[in-house]
Amino acid sequence: MSEPLLQAEGLVRHYRIRHGSRLFSHPATLRAVDGVSFTLQPGRTLGLVGESGCGKTTTARLVLGLLPLTEGEIRLQGETLPQAGSMRWRELRRVMQMVYQDPLAALDRRIAVGRQVMEPLVIHAIGAPAERRDRAMAILQSVGLQAHHFDRYPHELSGGQRQRIVLARALILSPRLLVCDEPISALDVSIQAQVVNLLLDLQAEMGLAYLFISHDLRMVRQVSHEVAVMYLGRIVERGDPDRLFAAPSHPYTQALVSAIPVAHRSGRQRLILKGDPPNPVDVPTGCAFHERCPIAVARCRTETPALRPLADGRHVACHLAPGAADA
Ligand SMILES: Nc1ncnc2c1ncn2[C@@H]1O[C@H](COP(=O)(O)OP(=O)(O)OP(=O)(O)O)[C@@H](O)[C@H]1O
Ligand SMILES: [Mg+2]
Repeated sequence: MSEPLLQAEGLVRHYRIRHGSRLFSHPATLRAVDGVSFTLQPGRTLGLVGESGCGKTTTARLVLGLLPLTEGEIRLQGETLPQAGSMRWRELRRVMQMVYQDPLAALDRRIAVGRQVMEPLVIHAIGAPAERRDRAMAILQSVGLQAHHFDRYPHELSGGQRQRIVLARALILSPRLLVCDEPISALDVSIQAQVVNLLLDLQAEMGLAYLFISHDLRMVRQVSHEVAVMYLGRIVERGDPDRLFAAPSHPYTQALVSAIPVAHRSGRQRLILKGDPPNPVDVPTGCAFHERCPIAVARCRTETPALRPLADGRHVACHLAPGAADA
């Protein structure tokens, strides 16, 4: 196997916050990301899913070095990601780019989109002005836009076209990794499939790797080579998307998967999780999921389950998962 493009090892991001009502508040630690590890090979897609607030965006920002790590290490092409803002970090940032949810917020309304697509070349002092323009035109074409879009302004474009502009700008430095945080959720349903197909085409053409975050589990299954399910700052299950979605092992994954809308659901009951996700300031002891878990036993209240391999190559963090090798 080729050298991993990205290795995340034991990523931890804690926030010191004030907890409780204003008068009686006290300092507390919010565990946004609490020990996340994964590897991403070139040209592959890792899908990251989980309820709102489980730490997906924080993980994405840590990977890019946009947030300092509390603990852990990120290696890009084997090299430890240096401190954000350093010269080397700026160089390495060319290798990985971020695509956010809202293309309008990512673009400057006052600047024609062509100039915005060229901007990374200007920042990195790459090429003469004419070369930059040629490169921007070529990239616009590769994301399915035309030369006449170059002089348009963001508000003159459709949502799908704007997200293509954002992609063009992310691609102009020939990155190897795109971190996509809900890249399609602000788009009309009819446009979502087009943008996803474009991402798949770009991956095939350019060998791009994606860290793909979405609440749309069907989309995640369609685009990912591997899926990681997060709960309260940790990965509770990861593995092959077809296996994971067809026969989820962790009770939390089972609940997530059972909530996917299916036109003709047969046989499978929708599992409703008890209660709200716990507060990441007050993570339950043992397995963080035990309070909402339909099968929890005494051990789950005291002992935190490690991520253990299943025979089919998946990993699951549940004491009760059948077939999980003992740690
Ligand atoms: N700057 C901050 N200060 C304090 N807490 C924060 C900060 N940023 C994020 N958090 C907390 O960290 C946790 C994880 O947030 P994050 O944005 O990573 O979630 P997410 O999985 O991306 O959610 P969503 O699906 O809603 O986008 C949340 O509880 C959030 O409130
Ligand atoms: Mg988020």
